[in-house]
Amino acid sequence: MTTTLITNIGSLVTNDPALGDGSPLGLIENAALVIDGDTIAWVGEAAAAPAADTVFDANGRAVIPGFVDSHSHLVFAGDRTAEFNARMSGRSYSAGGIRTTVAATRAASDEALEANLLRHLDEARRQGTTTFETKSGYGLTVADEARALRIAAAHTEEVTYLGAHIVSPDYADDPAGYVDLVTGEMLAACAPYARWVDVFCEKGAFDGDQARAILTAGAAAGLIPRVHANQLSYGPGVQLAVELEAASADHCTHLTDADVDALAQASATTVATLLPGAEFSTRAQWPDARRLLDAGATVALSTDCNPGSSYTSSMPFCIALAVRDMGMTPDEALWSATAGGAAALRRTDIGRIRPGARADLALLDAPSHVHLAYRPGVPLVTAVWQRGVRAA
Ligand code: NIG
Ligand code: FE
Repeated sequence: MTTTLITNIGSLVTNDPALGDGSPLGLIENAALVIDGDTIAWVGEAAAAPAADTVFDANGRAVIPGFVDSHSHLVFAGDRTAEFNARMSGRSYSAGGIRTTVAATRAASDEALEANLLRHLDEARRQGTTTFETKSGYGLTVADEARALRIAAAHTEEVTYLGAHIVSPDYADDPAGYVDLVTGEMLAACAPYARWVDVFCEKGAFDGDQARAILTAGAAAGLIPRVHANQLSYGPGVQLAVELEAASADHCTHLTDADVDALAQASATTVATLLPGAEFSTRAQWPDARRLLDAGATVALSTDCNPGSSYTSSMPFCIALAVRDMGMTPDEALWSATAGGAAALRRTDIGRIRPGARADLALLDAPSHVHLAYRPGVPLVTAVWQRGVRAA
């Protein structure tokens, strides 16, 4: 196995308080690290670094764990430029736009869907993302949902069955029949490709009882629940996520005090995943990260990349929004975009730079991670290692 020493790192975020300055980010200045194959083998001060087969000089720049984007919808075709344009002229967002992407996705070939997925994964990787979760949800037939998950599973280990994105247009007059399909034949066809089951619990999509039936059936098939919860309005999604010990409640834009309390109580189980790209692109109110953090919830940041509500693959953009508009400090936002995403995916091997972790990291053309929010819109990610291999 080849070893690589990355040295002369001005500021290294390890996300391991035991390794660094004692803060949650576990910062080490004048740091170095050694990659052995696909794994981090050593982390510490540059002056104490061991020898390695090859050496990379970071020239005083910052190194961070690769971003963990724990929520995206990347198996789709077409785009929704006209809908975005109308929204920016005053129209409001509703779940109904999903149908436009369903029609385009059904009409696309497997090859076109895969090429589009790869294009977006590559775009995200160049911006520092090394782990991607992605979902079905734009097929809404047994065959179209299963092929979306099969295509996704060829490129990421974090695949989510979202047959319950909206009621399929084919079942417009029979939502109960669609829930039967999603919990029956469609689940059976999809479960082999997926790790997670998700439902859009919202007016215009699925109510609390339908969502409970779908998540419970998914869990019985071996999938772990996660929930699109409280995005467009107050509702039962967050409480349901906590009740069913879902890995995450995603969006969390409209929360009562009881919702915040529930997420705080469940901080070791259910992560509150905030998706500021969606509020940006729908001109909605920001989720209140400060309120969740002060209550003790575990918070992740993610892109929600999809052609309707949030067409960005950029974790640095989401960090900048979270710091500027959601009350997060730059340290908190960086943690939520890395270790927080790992928690939302129940992973301990990613989101950290410590011995034994997967060698997923990003080099910034900046002296510290704070620049991600301080210099919004600037492409600061200048090199990416994924499983120890230079990927960008
Ligand atoms: O997470 N909220 C539900 N699903 C997506 C939007 C999908 C779309 O508009 O195409 C979301 O925002
Ligand atoms: Fe989403």
